[in-house]
Amino acid sequence: MDVAAPGLAAARLPRQADPCAFVIFGAAGDLTKRLLLPALYNLATQRLLPEEFALFGVARADWSEDEFRGHLKTALDEFATDSIVPHLRDQLIGRCRYVRGDLSDIATYQRLKSALGDHARAHNTRDNCLFYVATPPDLFSVVARLLGETGLAKEAEGCWRRLIVEKPFGFDLQSACELNKQLLSVFAESQIYRIDHYLGKETVQNIMVLRFANGMFEPIWNRDHVEHVQITVAETVSVENRGKLYDHTGALRDMVPNHLFQLLALTAMEPPSCFDAPAVRTEKLKAIDAIRPLTPEKVLADVVRGQYRAGRVAGKAVGDYRAAAGIAPQSGTETYVAMRLGIDNWRWAGVPFYLRTGKALAARKTEIAIRFRSAPLSLFRDMPVESLAQNLLVLRIQPNEGAALHFNVKIPGPEIRIENVRMNFKYEDYFDASPSTGYETLIYDCMIGDPMLFQRAIDIEAGWRVVDPILRAWRESDGGDLSAYQAGSDGPAAAVRLLSRDGLQWRAIA
Ligand SMILES: NC(=O)c1ccc[n+]([C@@H]2O[C@H](COP(=O)([O-])OP(=O)(O)OC[C@H]3O[C@@H](n4cnc5c(N)ncnc54)[C@H](OP(=O)(O)O)[C@@H]3O)[C@@H](O)[C@H]2O)c1
Repeated sequence: MDVAAPGLAAARLPRQADPCAFVIFGAAGDLTKRLLLPALYNLATQRLLPEEFALFGVARADWSEDEFRGHLKTALDEFATDSIVPHLRDQLIGRCRYVRGDLSDIATYQRLKSALGDHARAHNTRDNCLFYVATPPDLFSVVARLLGETGLAKEAEGCWRRLIVEKPFGFDLQSACELNKQLLSVFAESQIYRIDHYLGKETVQNIMVLRFANGMFEPIWNRDHVEHVQITVAETVSVENRGKLYDHTGALRDMVPNHLFQLLALTAMEPPSCFDAPAVRTEKLKAIDAIRPLTPEKVLADVVRGQYRAGRVAGKAVGDYRAAAGIAPQSGTETYVAMRLGIDNWRWAGVPFYLRTGKALAARKTEIAIRFRSAPLSLFRDMPVESLAQNLLVLRIQPNEGAALHFNVKIPGPEIRIENVRMNFKYEDYFDASPSTGYETLIYDCMIGDPMLFQRAIDIEAGWRVVDPILRAWRESDGGDLSAYQAGSDGPAAAVRLLSRDGLQWRAIA
């Protein structure tokens, strides 16, 4: 692997990670080939991987080491986010090792331990290991337990051992607490990195910079000036081949306690006292904890569930959700959820936060829209002013990452006529960001031991604590009302009513 040359250039580069072995459990799977490997390759090209780096894949496929490397090479050629530099690719692939075995069998971990030990001695990785659990969720605690039983979780003096766990972190509050308990019986909280890949996105991280590096926003970022907030995570993809798994999960569990609540927390949090992991995570947690608990009546009134029916998304026919492979014919699983939440603190009392997410919608779009209150005095009421739109700040997470501010201006001419215009900032106009998978920052942070973008056990449990009453109320009311919506639309009519009740409208998705 290339290392930064020492001297001035190196001084300007971010910190290079410690020597380490990166172990992927479930290395034959989709996540490894589509995201982890391309992310590692991008880190290598940015000279952010340590020189003494090795990737150990653990899987049960009957591969030799060469076959594993061949699989990774093909995957990288297919999924790299930028054109491949062959010698860098070959350097990375040359550092990959394969350990075959079943992940519920302790012998697999014993073989891994011996391979890691040999490698550490030969290549001086100082015994630092990062264990990435890229397996189905039922194996998360099994892997952690067997790492513990074989002594692989133990940090001897001068070396670190870290565990990265993918979502889903549990299925509800109880299972999330149970999973945390199992992980924490083997690893210390400081060793566990629970990944929410949304937090690796540049624009998500930029919400904090926008809020806290600009003096002009903070004074108006509160109930005195903000009328309401809309957070949208809209997908065009349907359930595709994830049917069986998705039908047991649904949009609420899949998206809300993790991605949507992270966006909410970044929007609603108080300014941390400094920009470090404990301060930032504490303020985000306080924001989630301040979400007003939903009573069963409030769930039925303020949370909308929908399921898509056949339609067209971006010109392509999409079949009915219930007709997709792996879905029960009478499935009551929601593919769309929208909700109205209140945040009980001095900053946000009385300001509704509307959240929505769904599959097979009109467009792929993730954004946070903050609408400000009207000007206190309508000076222009006696003039031919059709509509005086309220100010709006839209933070676009994807696509077209950027931010837009909508405000009113006078249309040129002798009359006072007013139009709402948009000042639009696009990242691509200013910065030459290289394409990324979104995992680079997270993997790098884990290698340098910066947990700011990862969630602690208490953060995960706080999210589920809000969602659990919704799951319970739906269960007890026989699934709640499930509204159908056409694939390719903006979602069910019930979601439109959720806002029109408050005299508001959702922003158009497309
Ligand atoms: N794929 C994504 O884009 C993505 C994105 C975000 C989060 N995630 C999360 O990442 C995790 C992995 O996802 P994935 O899409 O990579 O899943 P996947 O394609 O099903 O891969 C899982 C891997 O685990 C292996 N495995 C399962 N049971 C095993 C056992 N007993 N012993 C050894 N290996 C075993 C599988 O091996 P076999 O091939 O032999 O069955 C497979 O290689 C999941 O928790 C998922 O929710 C995935």
